[in-house]
Amino acid sequence: MKISRLKAKDYSIVIGKNSILSLNSEIKNHCPKCKKVALIVDRKIPKKILIQIKKNLKKFNIFIFFVSSSEKIKNINQINLFIDKLLRLNFNRTDLIIGIGGGIIGDMAGFVSSIYKRGINFINLPSTLLAQVDSCIGGKTGVNSIHGKNLIGSFYNPKVVIIETEFLKSLPSREVICGYAEILKHAIIQDKKFFNFLNKHTQNILSLNNKILAESIKRSCKIKLNFTERDFKEKGLRMKLNFGHTFAHALEIQNKYSNNLNHGEAVLIGMFIALKISKFKKLCSENTYNQVKSLYSEFSLLGNLNKHLKKKEILKSIRYMKNDKKKDDEKISFIFLKNIGKTTMPGEYKFKTHQVKDMIKKLF
Ligand SMILES: NC(=O)c1ccc[n+]([C@@H]2O[C@H](COP(=O)([O-])OP(=O)(O)OC[C@H]3O[C@@H](n4cnc5c(N)ncnc54)[C@H](O)[C@@H]3O)[C@@H](O)[C@H]2O)c1
Repeated sequence: MKISRLKAKDYSIVIGKNSILSLNSEIKNHCPKCKKVALIVDRKIPKKILIQIKKNLKKFNIFIFFVSSSEKIKNINQINLFIDKLLRLNFNRTDLIIGIGGGIIGDMAGFVSSIYKRGINFINLPSTLLAQVDSCIGGKTGVNSIHGKNLIGSFYNPKVVIIETEFLKSLPSREVICGYAEILKHAIIQDKKFFNFLNKHTQNILSLNNKILAESIKRSCKIKLNFTERDFKEKGLRMKLNFGHTFAHALEIQNKYSNNLNHGEAVLIGMFIALKISKFKKLCSENTYNQVKSLYSEFSLLGNLNKHLKKKEILKSIRYMKNDKKKDDEKISFIFLKNIGKTTMPGEYKFKTHQVKDMIKKLF
């Protein structure tokens, strides 16, 4: 299969089967003075691929830090541990950190890279579908705080992102659906043609059909890039990517970042709530609502998640919205849907918590 390359302003994204083989030459190009490489690796990465990566790094002095990734360890203490190790090993800015894992590893490895000696080279090898279609793009790095999700962090781009689709072979189907959630989000908010493509090909994506999958990853990355390149520091436009995420983050905290509810699952629920409110507020038509809803039902996207779509659950989670980064005053800002491919503008719809509660009471 063809390897494709997308160009951002200061990094590029290599996508496709065997793209991992380009790692050595990418390091040579982007980090010419690199001698040491720290690999921050998700423990669930198949050994076979890790061996292949190590072979590609023969010329470097490599150190591997394995991590059992979970939202609970995505915190500042874990970052301190990494930094301590790097300092002991005397890493310089010209050396390199490579993150190999899902969004959790990518966010943490990127954050460590951004603050270690004020910035060390970083390469991202996303290994989950969610990370490949979303979190590896746009330079947001960071960790959770007890006060909320991703509240500590930075904007820091990698030198290169390598999206190796072979990683996905070992991914549990639950995680595939999580990645699909962000693909769907990109289509819903920005690209009607892509939404139609998903209507036709969702089953192929969920069953990891190589050609369709690579096409979907590429289209998804392009949409995300389009937002993040125009508004890197999330001053406005980029907030559209938060469609469904204000509810999602609140539900994740409500579930104490437990494995009960993964990020992608929370996004599926959050988008569904945002869609319902869009219809309720007459921002989108019944027809638009039905188009998205029927895609949800045809592929059972909410499968086991209906327990989280209960009025009581959602109401309880609303209090956690007060610390969400999307909130810039007393009100909470939401993105709603107008048509497939078109959302409301950032800042256009803001509500106080009691107003959000009233809407949820009427809708569920
Ligand atoms: N930076 C951003 O712009 C951005 C965007 C979206 C999400 N995120 C963050 O990303 C995180 C979610 O990412 P995620 O869904 O990838 O979660 P994750 O990193 O926890 O990975 C999901 C699960 O898959 C396992 N795994 C990873 N690669 C595997 C592989 N190849 N085979 C088998 N198992 C594998 C992990 O161990 C984990 O159990 C959240 O913390 C979220 O906040 C960040």
